[in-house]
This record gives sequence, structure tokens and C-alpha cells, in this order.
Amino acid sequence: MAIEFDNYTFHLFNKNISYCVKLTDLGDLMHCYWGKRVDRPIFEYALMPRASVTTCDSVGKENYSLEALPMEYPFYGTSDLREPAAVVELANGSRVVEPRFESYKIYGGKPQIDGLPAVYAENDTEAQTLEITLCDKAEGIKVILFYTIFEDFDAICRSTKIINESGKHIYIDKIASVSMDFTNDNYKYIHLYGTHGKECQPEVCDVHKGTQGFDSKRGTSSHFANPFMVLADKSADENTGDVYGFSLAYSGNHRFEIIDDNYELMRVQAGINPFNFKWKLENGESFSSPEAVLVYSKNGLGDMSRTYHKLYRTRLCRGTWRDKVRPVLLNSWEGSAFNIDEQKLLNYAKKGSELGAELFVLDDGWFGTRNDDTTSLGDWFVNKNKLPNGLEFLANETNRLGLKFGLWFEPEMISEQSELFKKHPDWRICVPGRTPHPARNQYVLDLTRDEVCDYIIDAVSSVLESVNIEYVKWDMNRSISDAYSANLAPDRQGELMHRYVLGLYKILETVTSRFPNVLFESCSSGGGRFDPGMLYYMPQTWTSDNSDPIARTTIQYGTSLAYPAISMGAHFSATAARYDFDLGAAVAMAGNYGYELDVTKLSNDQCEIIKRQIELYKNIREIVSFGNQYRLTDDVSDTYCAWMYVSENQEAAVVTMVSKWVEPAESKKRILLKGLDENSLYEINGKSYSGSVLMNIGIEYVNSFRNTAKMLLLKKIDK
Ligand code: DGJ
Repeated sequence: MAIEFDNYTFHLFNKNISYCVKLTDLGDLMHCYWGKRVDRPIFEYALMPRASVTTCDSVGKENYSLEALPMEYPFYGTSDLREPAAVVELANGSRVVEPRFESYKIYGGKPQIDGLPAVYAENDTEAQTLEITLCDKAEGIKVILFYTIFEDFDAICRSTKIINESGKHIYIDKIASVSMDFTNDNYKYIHLYGTHGKECQPEVCDVHKGTQGFDSKRGTSSHFANPFMVLADKSADENTGDVYGFSLAYSGNHRFEIIDDNYELMRVQAGINPFNFKWKLENGESFSSPEAVLVYSKNGLGDMSRTYHKLYRTRLCRGTWRDKVRPVLLNSWEGSAFNIDEQKLLNYAKKGSELGAELFVLDDGWFGTRNDDTTSLGDWFVNKNKLPNGLEFLANETNRLGLKFGLWFEPEMISEQSELFKKHPDWRICVPGRTPHPARNQYVLDLTRDEVCDYIIDAVSSVLESVNIEYVKWDMNRSISDAYSANLAPDRQGELMHRYVLGLYKILETVTSRFPNVLFESCSSGGGRFDPGMLYYMPQTWTSDNSDPIARTTIQYGTSLAYPAISMGAHFSATAARYDFDLGAAVAMAGNYGYELDVTKLSNDQCEIIKRQIELYKNIREIVSFGNQYRLTDDVSDTYCAWMYVSENQEAAVVTMVSKWVEPAESKKRILLKGLDENSLYEINGKSYSGSVLMNIGIEYVNSFRNTAKMLLLKKIDK
């Protein structure tokens, strides 16, 4: 891995990928290449000017328009009249800014971004960073473009910083984390749309002329548009072809856009959503964008996903739990919702311990006077009517049964019927004098205010300090409407949504570092905030409230495009219990496994099945959590689906096959396994097969006319 500057070209490369930016004699930066590793790059084609009467010339160069060239980070106001990467409004009202090359720095390691989550390097040798500084000397606006390349990951991390040295205040109206021009437009793109209970649905679209993309305006990354996109060669698939992943480490409003113009140039951008965004930057201040994590593979989607999985598992997630398998949990929510009491919960924990669970989680309903969703958010003290002996007793008893104890919070919210609201009615986000819009009977706290953030940190900390809580589920169940903060001046209202996210990150950083041994799981009505930003603080996310195993196969397939199995919460629930028990378990074992149903109502036979399932999961969770994942079918078109995990040393593997859409009759499917050692033998159910047979001739799967699943365990044996 290295970053070189030669022949006016910055070349970032490792053994598989290259990324090239060329500096023109006018000091403009051209994006010339991102793809398979090349040597000694030259860019005659890419930089051929295509000027016409409709384009503007660059100042100082005739017939040379930036509009027809592949730009690296275009500002508004120059001879490039396409969608700019950044828009800055100067004190005189002008939005014309033309930052040009000033200097560069190359160094080992990777800097973090102040107050924002980002991929990290553990030392200065595993990654190298390039900083290119641009400057509009006339206006005093500096821009630093950051690039990091890794030795062992085919990934480039990009972010942007704007520094105001103009002597006056300026406004940033737009700042993309990444902008990239491609010199042809023969691509398709995949994005993950969804709703509550239907997260991360992959949709494949051909790139067409004009503008296309997706965004969130809801205050969170959202169920509707995961901050992730793949641009792929039209012929690329799971195993072959050029694919380019764009993932944004951000949990708020985002926008991903592809703009295909008429010069066969295609621009891709991702970053904070410029909609309703306006950031006032005083003289001397700087503003950093969130990080975009770009992954290239020449071997299709599967290879790209495995890069994201390992990068996010080992260099985004942090803390004690990063490299540990996660405990099998039993959660109270689907079994009893708000209707809980001490005895009922202890019965759950006792049954859970008999079945082999390792963590009992008390979900919503334990605090204030919360008997339904109309009250008490903000009142993080125990409801003594339900738990007369307090949380401490419940936690101790749970521990005595051999389980860890975990607790649910929804700290960013406030109910009108709460003690907190009586004291601080002004703490919610709303426009004074207008009635704000409720959602699930609740409102969002104004995290732009330090005193609100401090309250949340103190309230959560005091519970975690007083009771042996080893797991926290951090929920967030509504979007932000009525976006206005009494804390912000009128010309700073455009900062609200980003400041909310910064407040949240400050809270998460403080709480998670104060309680380093607690396992934190984030949640937002399921996967409404399943994004790399949250994973930086909390190494796992509740993937979806929908745990119907058939629906879950698509949700988990889509989620797995960017996120590793160890980051996905997946439970066998009351919904799964309506199907064959093995089906629910097989699907949920593709993530951090657990149960959410009234376990005290199970028959003896069902208990025996569940005991065996938990035992099985404990045997395979190392492979699922730390192995390489291979998707064996195309979720969108196949009537069945299959995936597998292979341990890093290829010694063991787990294959799961699911009959998904009910076919009129049984049909035989041939499934080619992947990622095995082709020169070794593997044992499956007492028989041995060579890796080459399993991967080239494959295994047979009888696709049932019922919804069923089958799991296979593979173990390498000596020849
Ligand atoms: C939404 C979550 O997704 C559920 O799992 C559960 O925790 C409820 N909130 C509780 O209100």
C-alpha cells in the first residue's frame, strides 16, 4: 500500500485497487480513476477536453471547461455547471467559490473526525492518508480533502473539511462527503429502500440520464433509505464484475445522488442532505463532513460485502465486545410488551436459563408509570408497582440464574405525560406557539442543547451505575418533525438536524466509554437507524421488528450487502413460532441470536427443540460472527435462498438453505458452495466431500412446497 505523487498525479494503491487524482496546470483536481490496481497511471482519455458552445471556459484557458471534465470535488460557481459537491455562501451573498490546489500531505495512519464516527486505523502502518488542501485565495476559503487507503482492505475513506479564513462569517449550504465523476455511464445501481418492518429491501435500477438517488429528511438515516449504495457494471452480479460501494458513516439526514449528464460523464455524490441544511461558519472555524467509505471489487457484490463486513467489524466497531461472540438473549417485548411484573419477568428469566439463554433483556415498560406508549419517556426511574424490589433485585436474581441482565431505554424522547415534561416542557423539538406533531404519542428531545444531552447522560448513567446491567438496548421510535430549536438563532435553524446528530454522538461517546463492559445494541423501531455511524458506538443493531422468517430473509440479505452478521440482531419470535421451528431458528442464526416470545407458554417438546437450537447456535456462532459470508442465491428472483459462513482459516462452515416462496411441488436445486479450501475434504453429516466438489458440482437442496429450512455444518478433515 502506498500513496504516491508523480507526474502531477496522486496515486493511492494497495495490492488490489488504485485511486487516482490528477492536478491540472490551473490547479484543478480531476478524478481520473478508481478500480483495479494499475501501475504508472496516465490519463489521456479522461482529460480530453470536450468543450462546446454551451460550456464556459476556465479563466486563463480557452476551450477548457471543467463541465466536461471528471472533477474530484467541484464547487459551485466555476465553469462546471453540474451539481456541485459543495456550496458556500459568502458574506456578500455570492456563492461563487473556486478553491484550487495549495498543498498536500501524506502520512501513515488515519486521523479521526472531531465529534463524528469514522473507520479507524490501529497503527500507522496499516493505512496511509492523503490530505489535499485547496484554497480560494480571493475569498479566504480553505478546503481539505481527506483520503485514507488500507493495506488489507480494498477501501478508501473520504471526508471533507471547510475552513473559513475569510475574515467574516460564511454559510455552508452543501458539503458532500464524496463526489466522484465516472467517465462512462453504463452502470446500474442498487439501493436499500424500506419501511418499518421491511428494512433494507434491495432495488436494482439502471442509471438513466438526469438525476436519480434517494435521501432522508427525517432526522435519522431511516427505514426508508439506508445510507448505502452500490454502483455496478451492468453485467456485474454476486460473483463477478466491477462494483463500487458508497457507504456513509452518518445517522442523520443524508442524500445519495447519481447525475448522468450528456457528456458520458456520471457524477456520484453522498453526504449530509443539503435539504434544509445551512451551517453558519464564523471566521476561523471549520466544518467537517461525515466520512464516506468506498469499497471497490472487481469480483462482484459478494466480495465487496465481505470487505465492508471485515472493515466495519474490526475497524469501525470498537470496545470490549468488538471481538467477542454475543450472548444468546431472551427479550421480554414480544412476550409481554408493557404488561410486565416482577414474578412474570423472573419466570421468563428462569425458563430462559433452563433453555440455555445467556442474557435476559427487560424491554419497554419498566419505568415511570409506563403501561402503554402514552407516558413516561424521560422518567428513567423504576416503576415500583411493577417491580416492588427494584431493578437491582431483578438483575441480581437474573444473575443468580446464570444470565446477564439487560435493559431497554429510549433516551432521546419525551412523553407529554411525564415528570420530565412537567419540569422541562421546552426541551422538546417544536416551534413555540405551534402544536407539534406527535408520533407514537411522543416527542423528540432537543439534543442541540447541552443541558438536554447532560440530562440524558446522567439519567442513563445513574441506572447503569446502580444495577449490574451488562446490556443496553438504545431505542429511538420516531422521526423528527416540527424541526425548530429555541436554542438556535434564526439564521442557525438550518443547523438543527446535524446538531441533533452531533449531540447524539456526544451522548453515545460519553455513555459507552463510561460503561466499557456493557454490550450496547441500537434500535430505531427495528432497523430505522442501522448505519455505520451507530455501529461506531454500538456494535450491534436490532435489524427489524419484523421477525417473520420469510420476510427476514430479504431484510437480512439487503442488510448484509453492507453490514456484517455480528452487527445484526436476529431473534426467534412469536411470529417465527407460527412456522416450522427450525425455519425461524435457521434464519435468526444469521445474526446475533435470541428469543422474543413468552417462553413460559412453550410445550415440553417445544422447549426441547429450543434447547437444541441454542446449543447449535453456541457451536456455530464463532463462524457466523467472525467468518466470511457468501450469499449463494439471488434474493430477488429465486424461490429459495441460501447463504453460508466460512471460518477465516477455512476449517469450518455453516450453510443455511430456506424454501422461501411456496412452489406447487418439490423441486431440486443445485447449490454451489463458496469460500472453501478446494484441496481439502469436508465432512457433512458423516460423509466426506472435497472442497472442489462442493464448490463446482455443489450440493442438492430439495426446495419444499412448505416454508422450511435446512442447515449444514461442514468440518475440514484430514485427507
Ligand atoms: C421498538 C423496538 O423495535 C421493539 O423491539 C421494542 O423495543 C419496542 N420499540 C418497545 O417500545
